[in-house]
Amino acid sequence: MQDQLESLILEAEQEIEKCSAPNDILNVRAKYLGKKSVLNGLYGRMRELSKEERPAFGGLLNSARVKIEAFLESRSEAIKQAAWKKDSSGFDYTLPGVSLSRGGLHPLSIVRRQIDEVFMSMGFEIAEADEIEDEFHNFDALNTPKDHPSRNLADTFYVEGGKLLRTQTSTVQIRVMEKYKPPIKIISPGRCYRNDKPDPSHSPVFTQVEALVVDKGISMIDLQDTLQSFARIMFGTKVKSRIRPHFFPFTEPSAEMDISCVACDGQGCRVCKQSGWLEMGGAGMVDPAVFDTLGIDSEIYTGFAFGLGVERIAMLKYNIPDMRILFENDLRMLRQFRGEL
Ligand code: PHE
Repeated sequence: MQDQLESLILEAEQEIEKCSAPNDILNVRAKYLGKKSVLNGLYGRMRELSKEERPAFGGLLNSARVKIEAFLESRSEAIKQAAWKKDSSGFDYTLPGVSLSRGGLHPLSIVRRQIDEVFMSMGFEIAEADEIEDEFHNFDALNTPKDHPSRNLADTFYVEGGKLLRTQTSTVQIRVMEKYKPPIKIISPGRCYRNDKPDPSHSPVFTQVEALVVDKGISMIDLQDTLQSFARIMFGTKVKSRIRPHFFPFTEPSAEMDISCVACDGQGCRVCKQSGWLEMGGAGMVDPAVFDTLGIDSEIYTGFAFGLGVERIAMLKYNIPDMRILFENDLRMLRQFRGEL
């Protein structure tokens, strides 16, 4: 009996090997496992056996059935795979997939968004204007004398039609004051352009965030308070800020803004060149001459403005030693910064 079963299994295996379509599998299955199959017939003969003999015989039949099922299963799987491979489009569905890597925000974009959020939480609205500007908005209205060196070709990129690439986001101050009456409380993040050679701390394209607050009774204290709040939210509560006298044509008095070095807590290190302070940008009280040009009564209103360097902030946040890294877009570098903040 055992021999008979073994040759049955062998016969089935050989026939299954020859199957090349799902239909062949169905036929062979019917032949070896179906109602009229030899195997099924053998099950019927169990009755002829004694009670003692039945379990062993049943076990043999079952294992034969399991073996034949396994051959059918694996052959049918192979037929499916082969059919995929030969898909009429020539597309091989069995090739391993290519996993797509996810994109992420550039560190500058992340920091820009953070800055936006900090100022919005302080009640600022966001204003924007074009990067291509005219001399009026980039220089004249900002009280910049006709012979000021920043107007030179060596400093400013001029484009056709007497236009230029804005050298500062202060242009947005003018655009906003042309359009809206005080009270005004806006920031304006955006790209600026200067004819500078790229080096570790310069780039012909860079990003500023301008702030402008105009209302009755605005003073230098409000400027300092805003700077201090911003620095604390951005860099932590330990950070101090200060302003130093400076000059800009469109602010009077003018100042430069510093925060205590975030790398050494103001102790003095390589990042702050041992000074304990880091420069954040320019600031000042809006010059009455600017208000006059725009028809805002400087007897009633005062205001402050400042411009922050966004690359500087991103470099501090991400420990980036060279500004050019932010613009070269070497993916290996950018991937390192992703998810760090
Ligand atoms: N626009 C100035 C700059 O480019 C910065 C500044 C902004 C100064 C606002 C005063 C007020 O450096």
